[in-house]
Amino acid sequence: MSNSMPHEEGMDHTLSLLREGYMYILNRRRSFNSDVFETRLLGKKAICMGGKEAAEIFYDPEKFKRESSAPNRIKQTIFGKSGVQTLDGEDHKHRKEMFMSLMSPNNLNRLTKIVKEEWETTAEKWSQKDQVILYEEVQKMLCRAACRWAGVPVSEDQIDSLTNDLEAMYESAAAIGPDHWKGRNARNRVEKWLQEMINKVRDGEIQPPEETALHRFASYRNLDGNLLDTETAAVEVINILRPIVAISIFINFLVLALHHYPEERKKLETGEEKYAEMFIQEVRRYYPFFPLIAALVKKDFTWNNYQFEKDTLTFLDLYGTNHDPQLWENPDVFNPNRFADWGGSPFGFIPQGGGDYMMGHRCAGEWVTIEVMKASLDFFINGINYDIPDQDLSYSMVSIPSIPNSKIMIQNVKKQRDY
Ligand code: HEM
Repeated sequence: MSNSMPHEEGMDHTLSLLREGYMYILNRRRSFNSDVFETRLLGKKAICMGGKEAAEIFYDPEKFKRESSAPNRIKQTIFGKSGVQTLDGEDHKHRKEMFMSLMSPNNLNRLTKIVKEEWETTAEKWSQKDQVILYEEVQKMLCRAACRWAGVPVSEDQIDSLTNDLEAMYESAAAIGPDHWKGRNARNRVEKWLQEMINKVRDGEIQPPEETALHRFASYRNLDGNLLDTETAAVEVINILRPIVAISIFINFLVLALHHYPEERKKLETGEEKYAEMFIQEVRRYYPFFPLIAALVKKDFTWNNYQFEKDTLTFLDLYGTNHDPQLWENPDVFNPNRFADWGGSPFGFIPQGGGDYMMGHRCAGEWVTIEVMKASLDFFINGINYDIPDQDLSYSMVSIPSIPNSKIMIQNVKKQRDY
């Protein structure tokens, strides 16, 4: 016997999702007093769920699949058409291995070194300016670092337009109208540029080092033994460059947290590595970034007496799970100490997805994100002194992705020490 799921009445609630943004699922989980409910989104019946148990079933590959789950507007902007996000089963595992092969300790150290060098150069530049808009400048700095790490040759005069294009891809996914088209055009441009580059790597005209994404992806073979087609290889190189630039959002929130919680800055000044890690985890938990992810029910099943029908569009609430009072004490309080004795949970703390890296779709770049944030935290604590003048530092819980309104303006930047 199965029960009927709590059900949101009405024709379609896409507008409510747009209006309530990060809080849409959490608001309804609270009012239905249920971690799962049925609604209608994007013109279809949809299930929304959140919390640790819901994440566990969402990441069970026997219950959910990703193929055909992403709306076209997402594929045309943030994901790309044939990227790892759209695969299931053995094809997914094989492609994911290609990404995870980049995440060795040596390769992550190489990235940290690049990021520190880029911060060093950035500090020189900033100290000669009256003021700096952090979000824009950090994006450019990360674009340079991402290209160096990925082995993508790029000249300094290409950096502005490439940064704008990579930014447009992730900022336009939830946008409508011209902003959405900006993302599509950006993707087309960068895919074309990278496809040509992949051909040159295959012809030996460009020789990126073996440990770089450009080299690995250009020479990677599918399960059928064939090279990836150039479009797919380009999509996957973008799957490295774009999200590294997007770490600028977490860095903006990291600087915001240092500003709003001066007592945290004092603790970080002691240089204790463990506390720095706890602080970074709390930034990733507390601030809004990815609201939710989508999958389709793979075959009929029953969970907690609720019936899930094959092919039903299902959303997992990432933000709401990171703010779930059943998992986090005072979830709306910024408190790095909550991570002091935290045992780790692949399903309860999911700012970049959950589950297993190889078997599921959990973010391939989680360690990259943490390493870049660590080097950046060190930079803002020990690398420079700066002032934050009065400005609108509030951030929206509706715009996706959310970024502090002023994009954080800093002034009087002075270099403290060399790395
Ligand atoms: C900026 C911070 C980041 C956030 C908030 C983030 C978030 C996410 C989320 C929510 C997913 C989807 C998980 C799922 O579908 O279950 C994902 C997947 C992915 N991310 Fe990230 N990510 C970030 C940074 C990165 C970085 C730096 C990289 C690469 C260097 C990266 C590469 C990927 C890839 C390749 C996937 C697809 C994995 C798969 O489908 O198996 N991400 N990320």
